[in-house]
Amino acid sequence: MPQANRRMKDIEVPGTRQFANRVDEFPDAVDLTLGQPDFETPQPIKNAAIEAINTKSMKYSHNTGLFELRETISQYYREKYEAEYDPNGEVLVTVGGSEGIDAILRAILDPGDEVLIPAPTYLGYEPIVELSGGVTKFVDMTETDFIATPELIESNITDRTKAIILNYPTNPTGVTYTKPQMDALVEVFRQHDIFIITDEIYAENTLEGEHISLSSYTDIKEKVLVVNGLSKSHAMTGWRIGYVVGDKTIMEDITAVHLYNTICAAIPSQYAAIEALKNQRHVPEEMNASYIERRDYIYRRLIDMGLEVSRPTGAFYIFPSIRKYEDDSFKFATDLLESVQLAVVPGRSFSGYGEGHIRLSFACSMEELTEAADRLEKYINMLEEK
Ligand SMILES: Cc1ncc(COP(=O)(O)O)c(C=O)c1O
Repeated sequence: MPQANRRMKDIEVPGTRQFANRVDEFPDAVDLTLGQPDFETPQPIKNAAIEAINTKSMKYSHNTGLFELRETISQYYREKYEAEYDPNGEVLVTVGGSEGIDAILRAILDPGDEVLIPAPTYLGYEPIVELSGGVTKFVDMTETDFIATPELIESNITDRTKAIILNYPTNPTGVTYTKPQMDALVEVFRQHDIFIITDEIYAENTLEGEHISLSSYTDIKEKVLVVNGLSKSHAMTGWRIGYVVGDKTIMEDITAVHLYNTICAAIPSQYAAIEALKNQRHVPEEMNASYIERRDYIYRRLIDMGLEVSRPTGAFYIFPSIRKYEDDSFKFATDLLESVQLAVVPGRSFSGYGEGHIRLSFACSMEELTEAADRLEKYINMLEEK
């Protein structure tokens, strides 16, 4: 029998998926596992795609994306972060942020190259690092309030380190970084010849203060590769539009991987993205108003239940500790689902450093969130009585 490559043995089905599949067995379950906005894509964005289908050419675009979209992204970065990216050669439109991450890692990694990933972390990075021949080195953030500190990063960089992947606002913890915190990290980055891949897909879902993009540190532009997209900001997960911005010197190689992989992102989706970034910039703020209300509610409920939890300042996740009751987050989540029909993601899905926690998504209605909190409380009361 022909076999898949040896690396596939280590690639697991993500914990989020495993749980989503189990949730289907419980029709009355309240599902807080989802990693996408509960809002629908705004109508003007849909209309822009429909209009484009009817009036524009639907042939391949330039490999890097429609010029108008690249120009719009470039302008967005100039206006928002005072960062200059040439639409010709420094902006690449991808099939979601996911494809951007894949193209970057495949373009930069040689076999054995180490990639630092502060953890707990989004589960989309490690498999791609490994499939690209790289070696994942998780950096433990459990003792630093889930923040990647300069000391932590510095002490993990070796001669073999090729890149670090940052993600903030962070999935699964909801952590964001202040300007002084980011300044201090950048000081470390200035000292080392490594790529800084920064997944800022939740940038527009910053719930407090301002998002400090690594693109705004223009003196390290040659090292920084920013991944972003429309999935979370404009509730466009199904459109599959993301992008990478970075320095010309490396973007050519990343574009080559993208070219052989996808040729270009889907054209109707590219037109939708132009509308989103040109005329619908107010959308994330409107969604954030709901996320803030829900965050405040669920945070208060978890505190009242006596759970240890930090207050998220970005994204739409909250990551309480369940160690008081159980170390094994898979066991806890399975039991929670079976006994009170509440679905959450076990923290271990976000690397071993997420163990002892569960991730609750508050990208759901207030009614669902209230019901979920009631069920969790009921379950915890059951554990207390045991
Ligand atoms: C941190 C992070 N990065 C990237 C992605 C993938 O996003 P996209 O839909 O743009 O591929 C996700 C999706 O959940 C995510 O949480």
